[in-house]
Amino acid sequence: MPVTAVVGAQWGDEGKGRVVDALAEKMDLVIRFQGGDNAGHTVVNHYGTFKLHLVPSGIFTSTAQCLIGTGCVVYPPALFEELAAIEAAGVDTSRLYVSDRAQIVMPYHRQLDSLHESGGAALGTTKRGIGPAYSDKSARRGLRMGDLLRPDWLQSRLTKAVEHANIELKYYDQKPIDVQEMLEVCQAWGEKLQDRIINPLPMVRQAYEQNANILLEGQLAAMRDLDWGTYPYVTSSNPTATFAPVGAGLPPQALTQVIGVVKAYTTAVGAGPVPTDQGDNDTAERLREKGGEYGATTGRPRRCGWLDTVNLNYVAYLNGFTDIVITKLDVLDGMPELKICTGYRLADGTLIDYVPDTPIYETVEPIYESWPGWPDNAARTAKSWSDLPAAAQNYLTRIQELVGVPIKFVSVGPEREAMFEGKIN
Ligand code: GDP
Ligand code: IMO
Ligand code: MG
Repeated sequence: MPVTAVVGAQWGDEGKGRVVDALAEKMDLVIRFQGGDNAGHTVVNHYGTFKLHLVPSGIFTSTAQCLIGTGCVVYPPALFEELAAIEAAGVDTSRLYVSDRAQIVMPYHRQLDSLHESGGAALGTTKRGIGPAYSDKSARRGLRMGDLLRPDWLQSRLTKAVEHANIELKYYDQKPIDVQEMLEVCQAWGEKLQDRIINPLPMVRQAYEQNANILLEGQLAAMRDLDWGTYPYVTSSNPTATFAPVGAGLPPQALTQVIGVVKAYTTAVGAGPVPTDQGDNDTAERLREKGGEYGATTGRPRRCGWLDTVNLNYVAYLNGFTDIVITKLDVLDGMPELKICTGYRLADGTLIDYVPDTPIYETVEPIYESWPGWPDNAARTAKSWSDLPAAAQNYLTRIQELVGVPIKFVSVGPEREAMFEGKIN
């Protein structure tokens, strides 16, 4: 019955892909439970280096089935492109399935996402059509992957969906979409995907009831959760583990382990409050360059700053983390001094240790404690906890204490093997 969720603990790009790739070696089924190709999950293993957007990061384990779950939104051309890149590296993708209940991101969703972002109040989305697709899902005019296989149903659903999209496109002075043209596009997608689109429950339920090892892979992270993130600077789905069983097709009590992926410092892309963001100062520049902090999907430079344990504590509670993985510890190699945010100060001087609602969050000033750094290359070359210099062990032990969750693994490089067990208390 082991069901493990792996989710982001900050603002995304913590290294979920690399963690899932490493853990997938022991998995029978890996399911992406939300999001779309706004994700950029980097995997570095014996097949090469991959930026995965929709395909679960378990695809490199030849014994694991992979499912793009019901909670996801799928832009088929992005999936085709990704599959071609993975197949070109010699990976068998025949074990990849797509839930017939997953929503379709239509070309007009992407167009609308860009139009929404072109106004004055841009959120900094990835422009992958995520918000418009989830909006149509909630408004019950969305198209689902299974619709691609049912021509009459598809035609009637598409007519309704396009009618609405055209109202919005007209508002932006854009050319209307032709239903017939869109229908042909959908039919071509359906032909290419017919063997992959399945009713996922028989597979998921059987795996669960037979005690198979199941991993639920999250996209983005809790600070961009639609309900608990820095609204409105959030994505349009719920990256928290609470949603994982819904998006995957499992009952709520199925989760046995929730692993939060924590980068050893903070990064974010897109607008909204990130209290420890260092802007363009030397610390930010160093983290960005050494950490290669440029978006895996959009190439945008990521905002960088110190680790924030106030948000981690909040996120640990919301997700029910049983364990955390610290990634990119090696990026801190050679920094003389490290800071950890342990509280916030409000504009009136009041100290708080929680994440307030966005308008207040925008005004908080982080309170730091300082920790000594360790020599260059020391974490990068470590193969186990005991190889780490005492200063790195102390930094991690302090994080574990502040977050209140044990460190299960420590990652010191992007490669599958560059990860070892954390300190066991
Ligand atoms: P995800 O979206 O959470 O899967 O993370 P991304 O792939 O967007 O960003 C993480 C980046 O850090 C990728 O370039 C990874 O290859 C890289 N990475 C992951 N873990 C480590 C690590 O421990 N050390 C270093 N130096 N890079 C890492
Ligand atoms: P992974 O899975 C980092 C951010 C965008 C924007 C907000 C909303 O690789 O961690 P959206 O396109 O979802 O409507 O954008 O969310 N965002 C990400 N930031 N990593 C991601 O994915 C992201 N996916 C979306 O920058 O702030
Ligand atoms: Mg990413």
